[in-house]
Amino acid sequence: MTHDVAILGIFAADTAYRAARMPAMGETILGDSFALNPGGKGSNQSVAAARAGGSVAFLSRIGKDTFGQLALDTWREAGVTFAGLSDPEHPTGAAFIFVDSASGDNSIIVAPGAAGQISVADVEGWAEAISSATIFLCQLEQPLDAAFRALEIAQNAGVRTILNPAPATDLPDGMLGLCDLITPNESEAERLTGGRVTDIASAEAAGRNLMDQGAGAAIVTMGEAGALYVGRDAVSHVPGLSAGPVIETTGAGDAFNGGLAVALAEGMPMDRALRFANATAAISVTRAGAAPSMPARTEIEALLG
Ligand code: RIB
Ligand code: NA
Repeated sequence: MTHDVAILGIFAADTAYRAARMPAMGETILGDSFALNPGGKGSNQSVAAARAGGSVAFLSRIGKDTFGQLALDTWREAGVTFAGLSDPEHPTGAAFIFVDSASGDNSIIVAPGAAGQISVADVEGWAEAISSATIFLCQLEQPLDAAFRALEIAQNAGVRTILNPAPATDLPDGMLGLCDLITPNESEAERLTGGRVTDIASAEAAGRNLMDQGAGAAIVTMGEAGALYVGRDAVSHVPGLSAGPVIETTGAGDAFNGGLAVALAEGMPMDRALRFANATAAISVTRAGAAPSMPARTEIEALLG
């Protein structure tokens, strides 16, 4: 069975604590609430893509434990095909998430667990799923060499590649040359280019820098300021969109990338794909949790009007 979108990444059980502030070292504070939700950037992007109407294969490693079961239940419900491995020796990934009760913004510590063991050999075993897709998408929560090899397999097969370079890290030489599209947020763009990214002009400069380093094109996501596409053919800005009060921004970037992958797999022109991705993210921030906040196709279309 082939899928339009193949995604490599991690699943993590998100343990989210809402509180007025982070505790200082050695301090205990009372929080407002706790929630356990499915997360992990790659898994979130898979759920977002499937709910947005894509046929999605997710490639990862999970443990044989309670959080692994949460992952399988999440994918079954969302209609994501898990084409990865169960690892009897390592635990499923987990994340500590601090959510600021006032703003909905977050800070995260993620431990990839079994997904931290994803190897080049694993990826080579998934070559068929990658090569038969229209779009291949990955992030940087699993080992870099695995991401590198997967991008290489996709590019050799003529599959359009998207790298969401999150969390921010330095990339190995040659990796940007494997990316048809790279989708950093402002701080990730700063990390990859060395320049400050604070507005549309500096985002455009960052996008050009990433193309000079080998990327085919870049989309710099800018939260409430929307997103900027920088390609050799065109530069276009899609302004931020509001779908209601912001409850939690965890997974907003994942919503954007999942929506974008589906839109491009369907052959939408870049401008429309950007608006589709933007709407997917805009709805996700009006709800708590990462994977649970991903909108259905009908909701995205309703917001786009
Ligand atoms: O992008 C948000 C995700 O990052 C969370 O779901 C958390 O698991 C971390 O991986
Ligand atoms: Na959310």
